[in-house]
This record gives sequence, C-alpha cells and structure tokens, in this order.
Amino acid sequence: MHVKIAPSILSADHGNMTEEAVRAEKWGADWLHVDIMDGRFAPNLTFGPGLVRAIRPKVSIPLDCHLMLAEPEKYVQRFIDAGANYITVHAEAVTKDSLLEIQEMIRRSDRELGIAFKPATPLSLINIADYDASLILVMSVNPGFSGQKFMPEIIPKIREASEIYARPSKRQVEIEVDGGVDSSNVSLLCQNGATVLVAGNSVFGQRDQEGAFKELREIIGASA
Ligand code: DX5
Ligand code: ZN
Repeated sequence: MHVKIAPSILSADHGNMTEEAVRAEKWGADWLHVDIMDGRFAPNLTFGPGLVRAIRPKVSIPLDCHLMLAEPEKYVQRFIDAGANYITVHAEAVTKDSLLEIQEMIRRSDRELGIAFKPATPLSLINIADYDASLILVMSVNPGFSGQKFMPEIIPKIREASEIYARPSKRQVEIEVDGGVDSSNVSLLCQNGATVLVAGNSVFGQRDQEGAFKELREIIGASA
C-alpha cells in the first residue's frame, strides 16, 4: 500500500509559498497540507483562502486544507471556491447540524470532507459513521505550531480509526496523522494504519529538504 506524504507549508518559506509548493510537488509529494488557523480555535494565525487560490494553478497534487477554525461552517465555501480538494474541520468545532451543513456544501462541489481530532479528543466525540467523510485526521500535537514533539499516546487512536474503516462494507477512508511526524516514527505510524503522513519541520525545516523528503519516502516504502 502506498502511504502518502503531505508536506505542510506552515514550515515553508512564507515569502515564497507558490514556489515552495512547486518544489514539494517535484520531490514527489502526494498532497500539500495547508494549515488554516484563526487565533480562536488555535493559538496562531496563518493563512486564508487567498493562499489556496494562489497555489491551486501552480501544482496538480491535491490541496489538503486543515481548518483549525471556530465556526468552520462560515468559511468552508470560501475554501471550496479557492480550489481546496480535502477540507478538514475539527470535531471539537462543529455540532451535528453544522457538520451536516458543511458536508452538504462539500458534496455539492465534489470535494472531500475530513474530520480532525485534537490529541485529547476521543473519536467517540462524534459518531463518525453518520457522516460521509473521506479522511480522519488524528492530531499528534496540539493545534498551533510546527516543530512540536510527537505525542505517542495517540497511536491507539490511529489504530481505532483504521479499524473502523477497515470493515469490508466501508469505503476507503484516509487516516492522516499530523504533528511531529519524522523519520523516527513514520514506520510505527504506517504499521498502525496511517495512510497519509503530514510532514512540516521534518521536511521544510531541514537544510537538505529534498533529501529529508526522500529519506521519509524510503523509510515509509520499507515499512509498507
Ligand atoms: C499543527 C499543524 C500541523 C503542522 C505540522 O497545528 O496542524 O500540520 O504544520 O508541523 P510539524 O510536522 O512540524 O509538526
Ligand atoms: Zn495540519
């Protein structure tokens, strides 16, 4: 099975975002991870739909937009219009009604819905089987910043998510792990059912970024 790597441009050079996206695609990135934070849900401010719109025509890989926003239903349509492919909202930031509303917007536009969980949030916070999600994002650091330390206590949650969707009747759902992913833990993540690995600091934060990306790819290939 091909486990995907999604470099996170939160750790890239903010003065050259479209070029950074193009470089990641050339290394062989499967997706590009775009962290959207509002200073309310997450203690940081990052990007808006304008950046997604700017990057969209420059690369052909999917744009994986991780919305760390309070009241995400107010903003989802703007990310759809900007060209986001995967739009992931936080389980802690929605109600059943707002998540159904978001799902409907995404479905109408033929994009993919993701549902994210902070490290301390159990998957049982919502009944994920009630929604048509294409992706479950398990955070392995608290939302906010790149370069934080991986929290190994989330490993059982990755396994639990992958088991929910491993049942034969269910369709393929991506299990994405986000935060502190690096060469020391990617094998373990793959073995526990992760299908998409977000890599910020472990790629863009390195002196030899392309070399760091290729090293991750090799380790993942050896553990698949
Ligand atoms: C954290 C973000 C992550 C971040 C990961 O709030 O959701 O996507 O970019 O960065 P690293 O890989 O450096 O932990
Ligand atoms: Zn993220």
